Amino acid sequence: MSGGATRPWVELRQVTLRYGHVQALAGVTLRIAPGERVALVGANGSGKSTLLRLLHGLVGAHAGGLQCDAALRQAMLFQRPHMLRTSAQNNVALALWLHGTRWRDARLQALAALQRVELQGVAARNARTLSAGQQQRLALARAWALRPDVLLLDEPTASLDPHAKREVEALLADFAAAAAGAAQPVTMVFSSHNLGQVKRLARRVIYMEHGRLVADLPVHDFFNGPLPEAARLFVKGELV
Ligand SMILES: Nc1ncnc2c1ncn2[C@@H]1O[C@H](COP(=O)(O)OP(=O)(O)OP(=O)(O)O)[C@@H](O)[C@H]1O
Ligand SMILES: [Mg+2]
Repeated sequence: MSGGATRPWVELRQVTLRYGHVQALAGVTLRIAPGERVALVGANGSGKSTLLRLLHGLVGAHAGGLQCDAALRQAMLFQRPHMLRTSAQNNVALALWLHGTRWRDARLQALAALQRVELQGVAARNARTLSAGQQQRLALARAWALRPDVLLLDEPTASLDPHAKREVEALLADFAAAAAGAAQPVTMVFSSHNLGQVKRLARRVIYMEHGRLVADLPVHDFFNGPLPEAARLFVKGELV
């Protein structure tokens, strides 16, 4: 599934990225269309975070081509969210204000975003004193308040307990569903070690190994069809 004839959100051709001597991405060719929900899976160090950072423009490619539709608004969620030392509400409001919303409106929209993730009760609390699960929900509210067309998520539930994990996952599913009927459905690219989550949230799965894309398949084919040997062993190992 390569996005067909629709104008892609992003297109990478033979992209290489190195950190010193480490080849983090090697010959990555990839096209993602608006509205796709893509999971990146693979062992530690296979290049998932690097690919997400590249897609968000936080690191640059050393070779190859990258074209991105700059008209689409992007937001990225990191595994451990960075919170400013101020209230939960201000953390969201400041993000909106930085994007040009007037402060008074930003505060109101921030409160609505907190309600969406059921954090209105802690709106006045210093964000850094919230639990990991609450901070991840806050980060999601902050990203979502910006009304992104593209949401990039690096292991969004990795550091959470099972309950918080389910909550955040349900929110992501909600956001995807709410946006599915919109004129411009949200595009999601997320990395995960949780194959159950991949099944539930993704439509397309990319398996990475040593910076290469080894498999790129619709989710059903990834879990049911034949896979390259390395990907097959990975799935088997992760499902044990
Ligand atoms: N800032 C950095 N400096 C040097 N090497 C880095 C840096 N970031 C990543 N790397 C290396 O690049 C490779 C890809 O790392 P990356 O973080 O993208 O993998 P990952 O698939 O996200 O792994 P994980 O599942 O552990 O999160 C690894 O070999 C890693 O050690
Ligand atoms: Mg990573």
